[in-house]
Parts: sequence; structure tokens; C-alpha cells
Amino acid sequence: MKLAIQNIVCIGAGYVGGPTMAVIADRCPSIQVTVIDRDPARIAAWNSATLPVFEPGLDAVVQRCRGRNLHFLPQDQGLPALQAADAIFIAVNTPTKLVGDGAGKASDLSFVEACARYIAENAAGHTIVIEKSTMPVRAADAIKRILQTNARETSFDILSNPEFLAEGTAIRDLEKPDRVLIGGERPEAIDALAEVYAQWVDPGTIIRTNLWSAELSKLAANAFLAQRVSSINAISSLCEATEADVDQVAKVLGSDSRIGPKFLKASVGFGGSCFKKDVLSLVYLCEFYGLDAPAAYWQAVLDMNEWQKRRVGLAAAKHAAAYARRIAVLGLAFKKDTNDFRETAAIDICNHLLAAGFHLSLHDYRVDSAAFARQLSSGPDASLAFARSPEEAIRGADSVLVLTEWDAYGQLDWAALRATCGQAPAIFDGRNIVNRLAAEKAGFTVHCIGKA
Ligand code: UDX
Ligand code: UDX
Repeated sequence: MKLAIQNIVCIGAGYVGGPTMAVIADRCPSIQVTVIDRDPARIAAWNSATLPVFEPGLDAVVQRCRGRNLHFLPQDQGLPALQAADAIFIAVNTPTKLVGDGAGKASDLSFVEACARYIAENAAGHTIVIEKSTMPVRAADAIKRILQTNARETSFDILSNPEFLAEGTAIRDLEKPDRVLIGGERPEAIDALAEVYAQWVDPGTIIRTNLWSAELSKLAANAFLAQRVSSINAISSLCEATEADVDQVAKVLGSDSRIGPKFLKASVGFGGSCFKKDVLSLVYLCEFYGLDAPAAYWQAVLDMNEWQKRRVGLAAAKHAAAYARRIAVLGLAFKKDTNDFRETAAIDICNHLLAAGFHLSLHDYRVDSAAFARQLSSGPDASLAFARSPEEAIRGADSVLVLTEWDAYGQLDWAALRATCGQAPAIFDGRNIVNRLAAEKAGFTVHCIGKA
């Protein structure tokens, strides 16, 4: 029996669900796509002029399809769409478990399981249920069990179709993906989803696997990427000790076609909702299967990242401590071109500096300052202010800490800024984007990652 997908529902209107469904609707005008979410405020934002996710190119895509074949609805109004759906994507968050077995490492699947129950109770006819969220290997078993316990006249296929988009480039990644991965059991179900993607993606880039390979590939891909950042960051500290230059070393490494040039940028440490959570999940899985050495290997990727964040923060603190103890922090997002600050290095570093008694002046182009302040452990009396511009943040500072690689931070006029700073200002460039020559000429001491 050939399956065809005409109606799609996605549960979860977050950083993954929203942009992914917008691109599917844009590229497949004959498919009706409905995104539902239990948070009505988030849905209201998707239906407004200010989308809840900042992503270059997203506004235009949403404007083209919203109301045509892309609909955002609160979950309690989404029942008719769910009943009509041929395919339901699960794109809710899968955070690290805080309590119970595997707390601190394993992924919390309670939201996913709640979705599966909701689908089991409400879907009609035959439905393809698609894991879009990152799941631990064999999570599909749990979903299958829940779907099979309902006694109604329904049937299901389960597919794993993990998302590889990176924030800041999500629309480009979705429109021209390196590959689309579909894992499943029945070829008919895999073909049905592949036909959706084939409307705009080169069919040769669609990789079909079994369910477990697809689930594990997503975890492994993120772990490999995180490991690359930790590897270059480990080398960066050695560069500083030996007068080697990490950008030069990265260029040499990257010119070996077996290594490749991407993802070799030394930094203040990786952040984001995925890398830490997914590597922890991998560590937990290894431990669960008694694989101690692989568990320790992946744990070291995270340990290295923590060490890198700490040492950059400590260097800025050491310098500012000798002067008036004011630090400007430029960049709170975990990378440029996003408003997302989950697991960003800025949270740990700001917490550390506030606890050490420094006054912080914070700036970012997209991060919501009140939401960021709520993530800090220092409470409402913390000595911090949010500036409207990098220039305002830097005024009166002894140390300037650059934590996100927003392009505009690379173009600051350090000669003009010098007069507004403390007596011997230093810049700690956690992204190696500051115009070092100009800043040094203006009288700043500049410390870069992985450079003498
Ligand atoms: C996604 C993935 O799902 C996660 O597994 C992956 O590793 C990172 O990306 P993301 O889109 O970033 O998560 O999460 P988030 O922006 O938090 O969005 C999740 C949405 O699901 C939220 O809007 C939340 O309200 C919604 N949700 C959550 C539901 O609608 N129902 C639930 O039961 C739980
Ligand atoms: C990642 C994966 O890239 C994506 O495929 C997956 O679907 C979700 O997780 P994301 O976390 O959005 O995407 O961004 P990514 O570009 O991977 O960056 C992650 C972190 O690593 C950022 O903090 C970034 O600044 C840092 N990074 C990245 C470096 O420090 N150096 C690099 O060379 C690359």
C-alpha cells in the first residue's frame, strides 16, 4: 500500500519545530501544515509580527505561507488537524533529566511520552509518527509501546527523522541540507516522508536507515561536532603556552581533506541546547550498556568545554580585579544570528564574575535581557546593567569580554572607545573577532584565544 502525506501536524513550536515546518509548508504548497504547542503565548507569537525565534530568513518564509498552508494553533484547538493528519512530527524539547534514574545525564522523555499518549488518544486512521526531537537510542520503543496500548481502530508507523539544522543558519540548512536522514521499519512509510522532502531536496541526499541507526546518528553527529570544538580549544591553550597561533594551526589542520576546514574555530566554549545535552545522553547510554571507556571518552569532551569557559572568565576577572572591577560583556547568545542563550558560555562566566563581586555591563543584539537575567544565579540585587549598544557597555569598563561573534563586534571603533574606558583597559576576545591591531594601537591590551 502506498502512503501519501497531505496533512502534517507538528507538536512543539520551538527552535526546531517552527522553522522546519515553515520550510516544509513553503516548499510543499499542496501540503497543509499545522504546528501546535501547549504554550498559547508561544503560538500567539508565531501568529504575530514578532516571531518567538530570531533566525535570518525565517520571517519571509513564514509570511509567505502563514494562513495559506501553515497554521499555528494552541494544542487544545489542534484536535481536528491532529485527526486529519497523515504524519505527526514530535518536536518537543528533550532536556537532561533532573531527577530519577540517570538524573544529570539521561534525556528526559516525559514530554515525548506525553505527546505519544496524546496521539494515541486522538489520532484517526493510519498515522506516521515522526521523531524530530533528538532522542536516545531505542526511544522509538517507548513511543511504540504507548501507541500500541490504545485499543481504538488506529494504526501507526514510527520514523526517526532527526534535524541537523544549526541555529543562525536554520533556513539555509533546511532549504539545502547536507543530508536528510529517515530511519524506519516499513519502506512504505519511509518513502512517504522521503517524497515530502524530495519536493525540494536532491533525492540522492536522502539517507534511509533502520530506526536505531537514525536515532544514534543524530547523537553521534552532535558529539563529533562538540568533540571538534573541544579538540581545537584544547589545542588553543597549548598555543598560548608555546606562542603558536591557533588560527594558523586550524588552517593547517583544515587543509587536510580528511579533516576539513569547518568547525575548527577556537572559542570561549560551545553552548546551545544540543551539544551538552546530547553528549551527556551519549555518556549515559554508554554507561547503561556497561561501556565505561567510551563513556569517559565522551565525558572528557564536556569537561574540556567547562575548563575552557572557566579559564576565559578567570583571565578577565584577574585583570579587572587590579582596577575598578567593571567588566563589559559583549554577546550573550550562544552564537551569532540567534536570540537563543541556552547553555551559553555567558551564563557561567557572568555567574562567576558576579559572585566574585564585579560590576557587569552586558550587551547583545538579540537576547531578551530580562529572560537572560532570570537565568543568572546571583538574584535580583546583582550588580549588572544591560546596555543598548556595545559602546554603552564598554563605557567605564576595565575589562571587555567578547563572548559571541556578532559581526558588529569585529567592527568597533577602538580608538574612539579608548577614552571612555578605565585607565589600562584589556580586551578578552573569546571569539577571536576583535580587530586586534586597531585595539592595541588605541591602547588596549588584547588577549585572544590560542594566541600569545
Ligand atoms: C529541539 C528538539 O526537540 C530537541 O530534542 C533538540 O535536541 C533541540 O531542539 P527546541 O525546538 O530547541 O528543541 O525546543 P524548544 O524551543 O524548547 O521548543 C519546544 C516546544 O515544545 C516549546 O514551545 C514547548 O512549549 C513545546 N511543548 C513541550 C509542547 O508543546 N508540549 C509538551 O508536552 C512539551
Ligand atoms: C548543533 C548542530 O550543528 C546541528 O547540526 C544540530 O542539529 C543542533 O546542534 P547549534 O547548536 O544550533 O547546532 O549550533 P552550532 O553551529 O553547531 O554551534 C554550537 C556551539 O559550538 C556554538 O556555541 C558555537 O559558537 C560553537 N562553535 C562552533 C565553536 O566554538 N567553534 C566552531 O568552530 C563551531
